[in-house]
Amino acid sequence: MRIGILGSGLMGGKLGTIFARAGHEVVFSYSRDPKKLAALARAAGRRAKAGTPAEAARCEAVLLAAHWLRVGDVLRQAGALAGKTVLSCSLPMDAGDTRLTIAHTSSGAEALAKKLPRAHVVAAFNTAPSEVLFGVYAARRRGARPSLVYCGDHAASKRIAARLIRDAGFDPLDAGPLRIARYTEPFALLVAQLAYERGAGPELAYGFSRYEISPAARRRRSE
Ligand SMILES: NC(=O)c1ccc[n+]([C@@H]2O[C@H](COP(=O)([O-])OP(=O)(O)OC[C@H]3O[C@@H](n4cnc5c(N)ncnc54)[C@H](OP(=O)(O)O)[C@@H]3O)[C@@H](O)[C@H]2O)c1
Repeated sequence: MRIGILGSGLMGGKLGTIFARAGHEVVFSYSRDPKKLAALARAAGRRAKAGTPAEAARCEAVLLAAHWLRVGDVLRQAGALAGKTVLSCSLPMDAGDTRLTIAHTSSGAEALAKKLPRAHVVAAFNTAPSEVLFGVYAARRRGARPSLVYCGDHAASKRIAARLIRDAGFDPLDAGPLRIARYTEPFALLVAQLAYERGAGPELAYGFSRYEISPAARRRRSE
């Protein structure tokens, strides 16, 4: 698959590199330093190149990985994204990265979908600290994988998201429609709190486990 990266920093740089190593063609874009994009592409291997946001937007899927305050600018530079799968790991954070500026009654992902009514937005990768991404990818063949929740309203785009999440070494967990980003975005801040504020370290990924429940409890659940 061809994947355009809109925002090639901590998240976009690492995820683009992982996608290229996993066999996809990647266009890194949107940095104030074109040399940084070229170096990223060189390090990611022969399937990666540097380009403009407009070039990245020509790929069948794009990853939006810019600060919330830069989203308007990068989308303007990207141009039309009609019919495209737009994976977004961008969280609607304030300038100081201390709080969500949209929450509870909407979400950054839904606000993004309103800005891009003809694209298919899937919220994905926003619940993983950038620091853990290479470790998860390196461990992808070694036993149980960490979970990664994603949500969206367009079935085919969600299949693309699930594939890329799996390619990155995670176990994709479909959380439902895009409005569920109202829950996944605050959850991303919980992960960040554990990773950066509570001493666990940013090499943190999460998993959900299932356990037996009694047949009576199962019946009550389905009533
Ligand atoms: N970092 C994480 O662990 C993490 C985890 C979950 C979600 N997120 C979300 O993912 C998104 C990306 O986060 P990130 O940590 O990858 O951000 P980042 O490292 O700051 O990367 C942002 C990218 O935007 C580019 N950019 C281009 N023009 C810019 C301008 N005028 N001002 C600022 N940046 C400009 C930066 O380019 P330069 O090369 O010029 O800096 C960089 O490539 C954010 O919405 C964040 O909330 C991050």
